[in-house]
Amino acid sequence: MLSLQDLASNSLINAFIKKGNEHLGVMGYTDHGPLHIAIVSRVSREILLRLGYDERRAELAGMAAYLHDLGNVVNRNGHSQSGALMAFRILHDLNMDPEEIAVITAAIGNHDEGSGHPVSEVAAALILADKSHVHRNRVRNPDIANFDIHDRVNYAVNHSIINIDEQARIISMELSIDTKVCPVMEYFEIFLSRMLLCRRAAGFLGCEFELLINEVRLL
Ligand SMILES: [Fe+2]
Ligand SMILES: [Fe+2]
Repeated sequence: MLSLQDLASNSLINAFIKKGNEHLGVMGYTDHGPLHIAIVSRVSREILLRLGYDERRAELAGMAAYLHDLGNVVNRNGHSQSGALMAFRILHDLNMDPEEIAVITAAIGNHDEGSGHPVSEVAAALILADKSHVHRNRVRNPDIANFDIHDRVNYAVNHSIINIDEQARIISMELSIDTKVCPVMEYFEIFLSRMLLCRRAAGFLGCEFELLINEVRLL
């Protein structure tokens, strides 16, 4: 059976991740490279394991996460759908089980807040893991005076974790934001749609979603 490790050692996949991230860098976007992929992959897997899903479901979430931003190599716009089609082709060539390919393709195609929906537990885990990865070290613009809102929000976040309370069925995202860099309002300006998607994803997993910023509960 195809594993996350197989994907992580695949030169085509890794070239697309690297190049896609370079192209986003040219446009001034935050980092979507190997560190982002590794974190989202690990967290996606852990979310399903913590909630009692079986090992293979969790592995599929980790694999979907490993491939989720491949589409950035084509274009940032529509990267979830282009990435889904690329993943389909790659996984098919690697002889993955067709139903598993379908699960991963759908999760990738649904990870973006513009058009995404938690269509499966794998998709839900990927949404939560991806949207929770907000951090100062993702900002690549070296010029603080010319930060855009995405840079400011990411730069302001010095700590972000996702907590799973499997007993109480609560998924909470905890962020600490330096409000001198970015007021909480700015966070909401770009993150509200992501947080609403996270709430739907948590709901799909039978959990409530909570958002805590600087120890204040906001959702
Ligand atoms: Fe993405
Ligand atoms: Fe991502």
